[in-house]
Formats: sequence, C-alpha cells, structure tokens
Amino acid sequence: MERGKTLKIEGVHKSFGRLQALKNVSFTIEEGRIHGIIGPNGSGKTTLFNCISGIIPLSSGTIYFGDTEISGMRADRIANLGIRRTFQAGKVAPSLTVLENIMSGNSSKKEKPLEKEAMELMESVGMRNSADRWAGDLAWAERQFVQILRAIIGKPKILLLDEPVSGMTAQEIALVVKLIRTIKTMGITAAVVSHDIKMLMDTAEWVTVLNFGQKIAEGTPEAIKRDPLVMEAYLGTEE
Ligand SMILES: Nc1ncnc2c1ncn2[C@@H]1O[C@H](COP(=O)(O)OP(=O)(O)O)[C@@H](O)[C@H]1O
Ligand SMILES: [Mg+2]
Repeated sequence: MERGKTLKIEGVHKSFGRLQALKNVSFTIEEGRIHGIIGPNGSGKTTLFNCISGIIPLSSGTIYFGDTEISGMRADRIANLGIRRTFQAGKVAPSLTVLENIMSGNSSKKEKPLEKEAMELMESVGMRNSADRWAGDLAWAERQFVQILRAIIGKPKILLLDEPVSGMTAQEIALVVKLIRTIKTMGITAAVVSHDIKMLMDTAEWVTVLNFGQKIAEGTPEAIKRDPLVMEAYLGTEE
C-alpha cells in the first residue's frame, strides 16, 4: 500500500565500534501523528534521529519515506524531501539575527511573505520583540524556539524534535507543547524525543520506547504507562 508521507524504519542497526547503539529497531511514524520516542539516557534516541536525517550512516537496515528509500542518502537530500530536525543543544547561526535565522529555514518563498510568516511564528512563542537580536546572544530556551521555528517555516512533511524542552521552565514547556500541536494542524508529522515523560505522554498520540538500543514497547500513551517492561526500564534511573 502506498503511504505518501509515512516514515518506515526497518531493522535498523547502528554500531559505534563495539557499542551497539541501535539493535534491530523497526517501527513506523504514521503521517499526521504526534509520535513520541522515549527511553532512558543513552538508549539510542538521538542516534536514531541522526540515522533518519542522514547525519550518520546506518550499520544495516532500511528507512523508507513513503516509497522512497532514504537510508544511504545524503543529509541535504533527505532534508529536501521534507524531513527536518532540531538538535538537543539548539543550533542557531550566532551572527545572524533571530529573524534571519528563522527566514533561512525557507529558501523558496518570496522575502516579504516569508518575513511576515516569521514574525507571526515569533509572536506565537512571545519572541516578536527579539526579531533583531543576534542569535548568538540568545538564552538556551530561546535557541530551541528559534531552531524549531526555522524548521517549521520550511514546511517540512516530518519534523524530528530532539529534546525540545530540555532545560526549560514549566511556562516554556507549555509553549513548546502548544507549538507541537500547531505543527500538527499545519499537516506536519511530528516525531518528538524527550526525557520529559509527562510532557510527552500528554502530547503524543503514539509512543515508541527504546532501551539499550532496542525497541521494548510501542502503543498509545495510556498503554505505555501501564507497560511493565517500560516501568522496569525506568526503575533505578534518575529519569
Ligand atoms: N558518535 C558517536 N560515537 C560513539 N558513540 C556514540 C556516538 N553517538 C552516540 N554514541 C553512544 O551511543 C549510545 C546512544 O546514544 P544517544 O543516541 O545519544 O542516546 P540518547 O539520545 O537516547 O540519550 C550511547 O552509549 C552513546 O554514548
Ligand atoms: Mg539524546
């Protein structure tokens, strides 16, 4: 069956020397869903995003975006297909302004409408007054917002968010959750990695759980909360 924007991860392995960071991971990120990915520290969440976005090669396995195999493709080609991601430590261009950073996420749109859209996006996270600040001067949480908005303005089909609420206050977290819900209404599929289980369980419609590089569970947040394997994975960890 042809599934236009479904991301299919099939039997993915990733080794760093003798360390197996991902072991035979298979699951599907369905189009239009908010898909949460949780797992203790070091369980392979960021590695998975690095593999999907083509930043590092898989050791084996296959990843499909719709009918197109993207494993083995260059990162810029994968991004051009509509798969964008953000980074755990917000990556911004320090010597561009906030507005310029956000606008740089879309190179195909005319400047005036793009600027208008960027200002609206900034407004939605209370950053309208920061448009002309240097991105290099931004606080940690503000960098997260800027990289998320820069990804959104590029109208991706799938947005991979790696720890979008780490180091944030409750108020800032609420803004990110609002932003993720807005992303969904824009028709963008969101895959969210977070150590903040409560936020993720409240936001995601489907959850995949990794532990030591393996998928140990997936399902609705309600089912995941009751899963004994998941509880066991989190016992004895600070998360
Ligand atoms: N580039 C790398 N080189 C060597 N080891 C790595 C590299 N990236 C990640 N790892 C290791 O792979 C495991 C999974 O890391 P990561 O995917 O960052 O976990 P998570 O994001 O779930 O906390 C960890 O043991 C980590 O040290
Ligand atoms: Mg990580």
